[in-house]
Amino acid sequence: MGVSTVSPVFGFRFDGRSCLVTGGGSGVGEEVARQFHAAGARVAVTDLNEAGAQKVARSLDPGGGTAMPLALDVRRKEDFEFARDAIATAWGRVDIVVNNAGHAKRTPTQDISPQEFDDIVATNMRSVFFSCQVFGEHMRANGYGRIVNITSLAGQNGGTVASAHYASAKAGAIMLSKYFALQLAGTGVVVNAISPGPISTAKGRLSGEQLERVESLVPVHRFAEASEIAAAVGLLASDQGGFIVGATLDINGGLFMR
Ligand SMILES: NC(=O)c1ccc[n+]([C@@H]2O[C@H](COP(=O)([O-])OP(=O)(O)OC[C@H]3O[C@@H](n4cnc5c(N)ncnc54)[C@H](O)[C@@H]3O)[C@@H](O)[C@H]2O)c1
Repeated sequence: MGVSTVSPVFGFRFDGRSCLVTGGGSGVGEEVARQFHAAGARVAVTDLNEAGAQKVARSLDPGGGTAMPLALDVRRKEDFEFARDAIATAWGRVDIVVNNAGHAKRTPTQDISPQEFDDIVATNMRSVFFSCQVFGEHMRANGYGRIVNITSLAGQNGGTVASAHYASAKAGAIMLSKYFALQLAGTGVVVNAISPGPISTAKGRLSGEQLERVESLVPVHRFAEASEIAAAVGLLASDQGGFIVGATLDINGGLFMR
């Protein structure tokens, strides 16, 4: 992904901080994990795809002292609890959580089954609830924490190529970010959302026609780079981000302004 470990895109240092990234085995999550590590943090790289998490974590620190791979399915509350305990045992506590894992299915409305609807909601919205429930309480007890939820433009205006279940789940993730932000306000824990438009990590999943359509719709005529999403995560996860509470940060090349 052309990521430099010498010159982090983060404008902040995270020495002494422990962070967990979901879906860290590829895409935006991998970039976020790499940037946290380059900026001094200890990083738990978690993913449903255990091999992906291991590959990224080992490339960051083959010895495992500062980068830990964990199998974590965001649809399972117990996986969040296991990760919390594993990180607390190894590094003392979890300071930063980036709820990045997501899964989009482009299914015509009439073809969405109850099972598919539930799975997309569990992956993109219920995951945010249980992660914030588990880590919000852990961070509240520690008096410090940063939670960043990667949602989507689809959750604000339906997006460019999203289906009904994904768009509505991401809308729920935005609301959960506000809910937990308010519930944890004043405890040292802040919760925020990032709402990206099209990111280059999705290009392989789109047809040539869809790619052209999306690029023509975006006012800046391109997809975001994963590093541009990671840079915003760095701000929201920083100590200096403590007064940004319950925000939804739009990173969409001008597709949606409010
Ligand atoms: N790519 C885009 O255009 C775009 C736009 C807006 C929002 N987003 C959101 O940004 C985030 C990252 O997107 P990306 O393009 O890097 O996605 P990606 O598909 O490249 O990577 C997602 C990662 O999440 C993991 N994952 C999937 N289901 C999981 C589960 N149940 N438990 C744990 N891990 C799971 C995958 O294994 C993968 O490593 C997602 O939440 C996505 O919905 C993406």
